[in-house]
Amino acid sequence: VIVYTDDVTYLRAEELAAGFFDGWPHSPTTETHVRLLQGSYKVWLARDESGKVVGFINAISDGVLAAFIPLLEVVPSHKGQGIGSELVRRMLDSLKHLYSIDIVCDADLEPFYAQFGLRKYNAMITRHYERQSGG
Ligand SMILES: CC(C)(COP(=O)(O)OP(=O)(O)OC[C@H]1O[C@@H](n2cnc3c(N)ncnc32)[C@H](O)[C@@H]1OP(=O)(O)O)[C@@H](O)C(=O)NCCC(=O)NCCS
Repeated sequence: VIVYTDDVTYLRAEELAAGFFDGWPHSPTTETHVRLLQGSYKVWLARDESGKVVGFINAISDGVLAAFIPLLEVVPSHKGQGIGSELVRRMLDSLKHLYSIDIVCDADLEPFYAQFGLRKYNAMITRHYERQSGG
């Protein structure tokens, strides 16, 4: 059974399951992962029976009009069980007082996000790859 929580105040690096930032050439450490969660406007976590965090979603926001969802991930061992969808539903509900909610994603994820009423738009981005680990 999966438990969802939006409280990261006392989150410790050891509580994060291994396997996040799958495929990232320079992935954040678990300590950096905690830091980005605690620095977010809103977070939802999914914990397994043992209390390990197996999924998360975060949002950054001005708190008035706009929010952006930079990260959503479920560890490979727990994918395909509805956890990612539940995290998105909870986050959209948490942000419903705002005007705009933006997510940048690869084309193959468009049908996934469309399920929640999001629609395709254009994005302009830049990346500093030497800062990818956030360390
Ligand atoms: C996207 C992600 C969070 C979904 O989490 P999940 O818990 O597996 O999601 P759910 O079980 O609620 O839904 C699974 C559905 O998502 C869709 N989906 C997930 N990843 C997909 C992909 N890369 N391409 C197409 N569809 C995808 C599928 O429709 C899948 O349905 P299926 O289980 O019938 O195959 C997870 O696959 C993940 O962590 N991916 C890597 C990180 C990532 O891409 N994050 C999004 C950044 S914008």
